[in-house]
Amino acid sequence: MRTETVDFLIIGSGVAGLRAAIELAPRGEVVVVTKDRPSESSTEYAQGGIAAVMSDEDEVGIHLEDTLKAGDGLCRQEAVKALVEEGPERIQELIAWGAAFDREGIKLSLTLEAAHSRRRILHAHGDSTGRELERVLLDRARSLPSVRKYPYAFTVDLIVRDSRCYGAYVLRDGEVTALFARATILATGGAGQVYARTTNPQVATGDGMAIAFRAGAQLEDMEFVQFHPTSLFAAKAPQFLLSESMRGEGAVLLNVRGRRFMEAYHPMAELAPRDVVSRAIISEMVKTESDHVSLDLRHLGKDFVKKRFPMIYETCMRFDINIARDVIPVSPAAHYIMGGVKTDLEGRTSLSGLYAAGEVACTGVHGANRLASNSLLEGLVFGARAGRAAADGAVQPVADAEYRHEAASIPSSDEIRKTLRSVMWERAGIIRCAESLGDARLRIHSYADIIGGNYRTRHELELKNMLTVAGLIVEAAIAREGSVGAHYRSDHKERGKDWKRHITLDLQSFRPGGEKTAAPARNTC
Ligand code: SIN
Repeated sequence: MRTETVDFLIIGSGVAGLRAAIELAPRGEVVVVTKDRPSESSTEYAQGGIAAVMSDEDEVGIHLEDTLKAGDGLCRQEAVKALVEEGPERIQELIAWGAAFDREGIKLSLTLEAAHSRRRILHAHGDSTGRELERVLLDRARSLPSVRKYPYAFTVDLIVRDSRCYGAYVLRDGEVTALFARATILATGGAGQVYARTTNPQVATGDGMAIAFRAGAQLEDMEFVQFHPTSLFAAKAPQFLLSESMRGEGAVLLNVRGRRFMEAYHPMAELAPRDVVSRAIISEMVKTESDHVSLDLRHLGKDFVKKRFPMIYETCMRFDINIARDVIPVSPAAHYIMGGVKTDLEGRTSLSGLYAAGEVACTGVHGANRLASNSLLEGLVFGARAGRAAADGAVQPVADAEYRHEAASIPSSDEIRKTLRSVMWERAGIIRCAESLGDARLRIHSYADIIGGNYRTRHELELKNMLTVAGLIVEAAIAREGSVGAHYRSDHKERGKDWKRHITLDLQSFRPGGEKTAAPARNTC
């Protein structure tokens, strides 16, 4: 096995990883490991925008209130305070580095999304905000000689000695390298791929959460998965996100009978919190015996639609949907996980030497439900914070590689991946109950051998990680016998006893593999 020693190891190159790399660059050699090409991350696909207080009509106190309200009582207030107070400075810095946010004249153009009480969402190229952020951060990182990228390298596991993380084992071209580091930052993004319907890219397989869990770190709030109400639902078309900013600009939802329905479910109608809109859509689908509803923005006019949503317009056109002329078939899809590797305000995890930032982390900023467009901001603010803390907490790494695992292979891994994704969608999705979650748990436990195995391909390692993270989501969802934020239990519709507690899981409290009888996947909740 090859070994290499670096100062700082960052796993993941979305907004959080790159921002951390930029912060660390003056403090030593930084290596950014990615399992794919460096720009392939959830950041790259973020459409709607990034929320921050950038106008005189807004105040950080109002952004704070909106975030706390969306989080439904489970946000960590100091984390939200850091987010909203430091956010504007991080945005100004991005602008100074060349970020081209859309403007009206010289003023930043700000839009509205669900549960924001002010127009505060910045966007770029209409609906390609994430791509612009990724471009600027990658350019900036490229200009720093101490930052080196290490693409197409899959992080198999973290290197842990005496309860401290000293880097990671990475797999590239079939060979494992031990990358020893003075400090390690996880910035691997989310886990949407564990669900059959998701807006997340293929890379979002929960790798960072799974490797942190195996290394002994604590994970928190894993039951809180946000489902985006509107992803494209058309034969042969990908599950493409239709940004909430479309509703922010006036698009409405219609059931398949052509009737508007959101006003009957919530006073904020189409701009109600995402969990409310997603459940309302499911309810309309049941009532009308349909598998989708429609998004209608025909009244906004072709010129506006093409200018404001150019990427969505072009993409839908490729699938013969003219969004300025036709209603768009949509249904909800898994979008964002509020939980993750538990961190303090500086990105420190419960495992010394390991830091986390971005969607992989649970800083407490999002509570039980994330306010739209707060996640890119979180990546910037907490990426920078984790970078600073990692530099301050760095120690001399051990350099004794101990990776001696025999590699196995998983027969029918494609089929198992497909089964897992549909079990999670059917049994641990938007509406859950004890029975459905119990079935999901049994299914996942029936794959305990896979979760415990060692593999030498990205595809198999991803499956092992997906099963691990799915197990954690299900376990936390079973433990929370109540409905809070994005976690909705049809058998416990009230908040339940002790609802303010956070559910924390680690190797001591949860080990997949106890029960092995598989149950059929069907939705009974
Ligand atoms: C969207 O554009 O609807 C997604 C924005 C977000 O999830 O923050």
